[in-house]
Amino acid sequence: MNNVTSLIRSIRAEQTYLLRHSVLWPDKPLDYVKVDNDVDGYHFGAFFGEDLVAVISLFVDGDEARFRKFAARPNCQRQGIGTLLLNHVMTEARRLGAATIWCDARLDAADFYRRFGMEAVSEVFYKGTIPYAKFSRLL
Ligand SMILES: CC(C)(COP(=O)(O)OP(=O)(O)OC[C@H]1O[C@@H](n2cnc3c(N)ncnc32)[C@H](O)[C@@H]1OP(=O)(O)O)[C@@H](O)C(=O)NCCC(=O)NCCS
Repeated sequence: MNNVTSLIRSIRAEQTYLLRHSVLWPDKPLDYVKVDNDVDGYHFGAFFGEDLVAVISLFVDGDEARFRKFAARPNCQRQGIGTLLLNHVMTEARRLGAATIWCDARLDAADFYRRFGMEAVSEVFYKGTIPYAKFSRLL
């Protein structure tokens, strides 16, 4: 990881908004990246020093976990930080009693999710012009 010490910490939902917005939906208003039940979620950030460089949010409903709004700063992508965060979320989801985990995956990240044993379980659908599919796996 480029000799940079990174650390995963629990953060508040509001701390995720700027990265959610700038990485995922820069053309939408900031409010677009807020999730109705953010208050019920578990939010995690990866830090390079004091800089928040990637975020992910976990929602657990019974034995089903979902993660949303997974975003790493462009100049910090492909250095292993997303892997650390997703592994952390899977561990937390199991600890919280989930038996499956899913996400709405952008198709351009599908190969990333396949590395974690996740597979498409829906048809392709669109949010705006961006193609997605639901990806899922057992925990
Ligand atoms: C998807 C994302 C969170 C992954 O985080 P990351 O820190 O870049 O991921 P990692 O560095 O841990 O990647 C692990 C491996 O997957 C690969 N990978 C990362 N993103 C990929 C992608 N979109 N497609 C295919 N492979 C990908 C990496 O190259 C790396 O491969 P390597 O081990 O051979 O070097 C990040 O790239 C990102 O924010 N992308 C833009 C926003 C996005 O698409 N979010 C997901 C929406 S569903």
